[in-house]
Amino acid sequence: MSVLPYKDKQSSKSEQVAEMFDNISPKYDLLNHVLSGGIDIYWRKKAIKLLQKRQPKVILDIATGTGDFAIEALSLKPEKIIGVDISEGMLEVGRKKIQKLNKQDIITLQTGDSERLTFSDNYFDAVIVSFGVRNFQNLLSGLTEMNRVMKPGGTCVVVEFSKPQSFPIKQLYHFYSKYLLPLIGRTVSKDQAAYSYLPESVQAFPDGNAFLDIYTKAGFKNTQCIPLTFGICSIYVGHK
Ligand SMILES: C[S@@+](CC[C@H](N)C(=O)[O-])C[C@H]1O[C@@H](n2cnc3c(N)ncnc32)[C@H](O)[C@@H]1O
Repeated sequence: MSVLPYKDKQSSKSEQVAEMFDNISPKYDLLNHVLSGGIDIYWRKKAIKLLQKRQPKVILDIATGTGDFAIEALSLKPEKIIGVDISEGMLEVGRKKIQKLNKQDIITLQTGDSERLTFSDNYFDAVIVSFGVRNFQNLLSGLTEMNRVMKPGGTCVVVEFSKPQSFPIKQLYHFYSKYLLPLIGRTVSKDQAAYSYLPESVQAFPDGNAFLDIYTKAGFKNTQCIPLTFGICSIYVGHK
C-alpha cells in the first residue's frame, strides 16, 4: 500500500502529490531549511560533489521542485540543466529564483512526470534527484525511466530521507518527525496533510539495501549507498 497525502481523496498518488506541492510551494523553501536546520543544503552540496570528477555537461534534475538541486549543480559548470516536476506551483517558485540568479540560459524548468519522461534514450550525462523518488507513484518505473534517458557511462545521484537505526538518534528522530515536524509544517504551510505525509512516506520508503535492490532492477550498476547525518538522509549513486 502506498502512502498518500490526502487519504480521503480518490485521486492517484501522483495527482495528490502534485496538488500537495502546489499548495505548499510558497512556503516550501522556508520550511525545508527550518525543519532540517539548514542541513538539507549540505546534503545537496555533498551529493553534487560526487559528480565533480565526471564533469557532466547535460544534466537532468528529476522532481526539481523549486530548483535547489539544479541550482547546486551549477557548481559543476554544465552546459545545460533541465529540471522536471509535476507541480507547476513549485516550478513557478523555481523559475523566479533562477531568473534572479540570471541562470535561465543554463537551467530550464519544465512540467513532466518522471514515470513518463519525454526525452530520448541515452541523452543525459547525469541524472540527479533530491527528495523526489519517495513521492513517485511507482518507484521502479520512475527509476527505470531515469536510467533510460541517461547515457551509457553516465552517473545517477539520488538523495532521499532514510531511517536512522542507532540509539538515541532513532528515538529522537521518531519524536521529532512524528510530533514536532507535522505541527510546525501544518502551522506554516496551512496544508493539514503535507507534513504528516512527509514522515509517513519516509517510514514506508525502502531505504538502504532495499533501495539498492530496486535501483539495480531499474538498470543501474555499481550502486552504492552513502548514509549522511546518522542515516537521516542517504545518497544513492548508480552508473549505466
Ligand atoms: C520534496 S520536493 C523536492 C524538490 C527538490 N528536488 C528539492 O530538493 O528541494 C519533491 C518534488 O517531487 C515532485 N514529484 C513527485 N513525484 C513526481 C513525479 N512523478 N515526477 C516529477 N516530479 C515529481 C513534487 O512535485 C515535488 O516538487
